[in-house]
Amino acid sequence: MARLVIVSNRVPVPARKREQQAGGLAVVLEEALKGEVLWFGWSGRRAETLIVQPAMATRGATTFATIDLSEAEYRDYYAGFSNRSLWPLLHYRTGLVAFSREEYRGYRATNGKFAEALKPLLRPDDVIWVQDYHLIPLGRALREAGITQRIGFFIHIPFPPPSVIDILPPARELITDLAAYDLTGFQTEEDRENFAGCARKFLAGKEQAHAMAASVAIPVGIDGKAFAKMAKTSRMTAESHRLKHSLVGRKLIIGADRLDYSKGLPQRFEAYSELLATHAEYREKISFLQVAPRSREDVSEYRELKKSLDRLTGKINGKYAEFDWVPLRYMTHGLSRRLLAGFFRMAAIGLVTPLRDGMNLVAMEYVAAQDEEDPGVLVLSRFAGAAASLDAALIVNPHDTSAVAEAIHQGLTMPKEERHARWLALMSRIEQDSAASWCRRFLAGLTAGATSLRAAS
Ligand code: G6P
Repeated sequence: MARLVIVSNRVPVPARKREQQAGGLAVVLEEALKGEVLWFGWSGRRAETLIVQPAMATRGATTFATIDLSEAEYRDYYAGFSNRSLWPLLHYRTGLVAFSREEYRGYRATNGKFAEALKPLLRPDDVIWVQDYHLIPLGRALREAGITQRIGFFIHIPFPPPSVIDILPPARELITDLAAYDLTGFQTEEDRENFAGCARKFLAGKEQAHAMAASVAIPVGIDGKAFAKMAKTSRMTAESHRLKHSLVGRKLIIGADRLDYSKGLPQRFEAYSELLATHAEYREKISFLQVAPRSREDVSEYRELKKSLDRLTGKINGKYAEFDWVPLRYMTHGLSRRLLAGFFRMAAIGLVTPLRDGMNLVAMEYVAAQDEEDPGVLVLSRFAGAAASLDAALIVNPHDTSAVAEAIHQGLTMPKEERHARWLALMSRIEQDSAASWCRRFLAGLTAGATSLRAAS
């Protein structure tokens, strides 16, 4: 069997592994990978001495190879173009795009450095799978360096229509990069159609035909059974008992998201506040726990968001708290995935209300964590990729805070039979679109696609 080479910006290197948080690319890949793997990417470290020689580590059948970034590379490639231009643009937040030519140059150069460092590690029969928006130009850079192995790309975040992509000055170059892969994968059919629209707008001839034919929509998923098991055992931990004890019989509402403006946290807090305002019967009867680990703090929009959430939390708690009840528990450090699994199991409502999200694995994790005998209710944004399959959740428009408040109310009062029926429907979709099937389907497409392409050329 050919070795699989995964390339992603973040790499969960064993020794340096952070406490795993809910969702995210690294989690889904770890769950899906079987067989011999080389996983290549950024070490997470910034260094001034420029060593392109990767650091190596091994866990089971996976070898991790990582390189450091210089301060300038971190600034231009990661904090700059990836997270101040691409991230907001691809999440439809055109007003937040802060394009700079210098950062874009740094982004391309760093992709070139990745290609240069990866090349000597490759074997002739490797299959290379590049992940996410940090590495769009990598496939072309590898080709220019003489790499002929099959190379696929998967974008984990949304892909907007051509009119939005067009805002980015180097739009055409980036679409050309994407067309250089043997196969390009998207989370949803809508994302894939948007890419096909970009191919029509920015490309021509053979390149356009290839881009349109070699793009697929394959949703990422989780290992639902493994997460359910983790939730059951985690429910027995001292932390879970402490949380339960602190609730003194109140119903728990839970949210768990990186502190990111795509997650719709201010709107979610407003919706909760509206619920307390319009349904006074819930005061002192429910508790909302929002876990929001700080993220990308070198980017000003993230610091601003944190300030506004701090303020909003103070406002809501100041208005509704009693001396023995805090309506909103908001924490900006992460909890381990294991601990969250147990907390999800305890929660009557899971609030997943991003303004845009590629897929959102927390939605699936919340469902998988539930007690089959008495499951909680998922309130899910229609703008999360997960909404395409998890349509048995209570689907909301996160901008409509009154509708979100009403959905929480509906969830809190939903009869057990309905909760159970919805949960069964959700679980069957989660098991169908698992992490393993995502991996299998993409790699099958990459192998088949590459063969037919070579035959055609
Ligand atoms: C999203 C992206 C990932 C990224 C993660 C955490 O899930 O799709 O590529 O790794 O956010 O963001 P960070 O900037 O900390 O890597």
